[in-house]
Amino acid sequence: MNRQLFVMPGQERLGQNLLARSDFQSGNFELRRFPDGESHVRVLSDVRNADVAILCQMHHPDDKILPLLMLVSTLRDLGVRRVGLIAPYLAYMRQDKRFHDGEGITARYFARLLSQQVDWLLTVDPHLHRIHALSEVYSIPALAMTAVQPIAQWLRDHVTKPVVIGPDGESEQWAARVAQAAGCPWEVLTKERFGDRDVRISLPHVEQYVDCTPVLVDDIISTGRTMIQAAAHLQAAGMSAPVCIGVHGIFAEGALQEMQAVGLRVVTSNSIPDVSNQIDLAPLLSEGVRHLLCESEPARD
Ligand code: R5P
Repeated sequence: MNRQLFVMPGQERLGQNLLARSDFQSGNFELRRFPDGESHVRVLSDVRNADVAILCQMHHPDDKILPLLMLVSTLRDLGVRRVGLIAPYLAYMRQDKRFHDGEGITARYFARLLSQQVDWLLTVDPHLHRIHALSEVYSIPALAMTAVQPIAQWLRDHVTKPVVIGPDGESEQWAARVAQAAGCPWEVLTKERFGDRDVRISLPHVEQYVDCTPVLVDDIISTGRTMIQAAAHLQAAGMSAPVCIGVHGIFAEGALQEMQAVGLRVVTSNSIPDVSNQIDLAPLLSEGVRHLLCESEPARD
C-alpha cells in the first residue's frame, strides 16, 4: 500500500512525530512563491494510486489555504487515489452565525470549500458551538478527535493536586472531561464578551479549592483575555496563579507574552507550533488517520 504524508512547510516537528507513528512514507514536494507572490508547487514523489494525507497546521489560514489547494490539485493531476487533510487546528469554526447584519457565516463557507477539495478531514477539538457536529457543515468524512486524554495525562504528570477550571460555559465540555480523566475536581466560570479584547468573568466560589493548583482549560487561546481575566478572579479569591492549558494556542500578537507577564504558566498542544507546546497530539492523530482510512475506503463490488 502506497501511503504518503505531505507536511506543509514549517510543520516538520509534528510531521516527524506522525511519520514515526504511522505506516506513511514522507511525501516529497517543493512549495515556494514566485517573485510575484503566486504559489509554485512541485511534487517529487511518485504518487500514482497513493493514499495521501496532508498535514496542515491551520493557524493564519488565509496564507496557507491557496498553497494547500494548489498542492491538492497537483496531487490529483498526478493520479493519487485519495487525498485527506490532517488539520489538528481547524480554522474558521468560530464565525458560526451571523452576529451582525451582513456578516458572512464563514464556518460554513470554509467547510464547503474544503469538502469540495479533499476526500476526508481529521481534526482535534474543533470549536463546535452553534454547529454541533462537523457533519452539519462538512460533506466528506470528517473526524473530530479530542485532546482530553493527552491533557489529562499531562496534568497527572506535571501538576500536584489540580482543580480544573473552565473559564466559561463553552469550556465546560473540556474542563469536565479532563478533570474526570485526571481524577480531580472541576468548576466552570461564566464569561461575558464586550469586544475582541474586553472579556469579563464572574467571581467564582472557589474558596474550597484554595490549597489546590488551579488549572484553566479551554479549547482556544487567542488574545489571552479570557485566561487573564479568569486568572485574576481566581487570584482575587485567594488562589495561586493558574496553569493555563489551551488545546489550540492561536496567540494573537503579544498574547503569550502578556499572559506570561502576569505570571501565568501557559501550556498548549502542538496543534499549532509554539514554544508553549507540551502536549503531543501525534498518537491521537495517527489513531484518527487509521480510522478514517478504513472508514473512507471505497466499497468494492
Ligand atoms: C471562545 O469561544 C473560545 O472557547 C475561547 O474561550 C476563546 O476563543 C478565547 O479567546 P481569547 O483568548 O481571545 O479570550
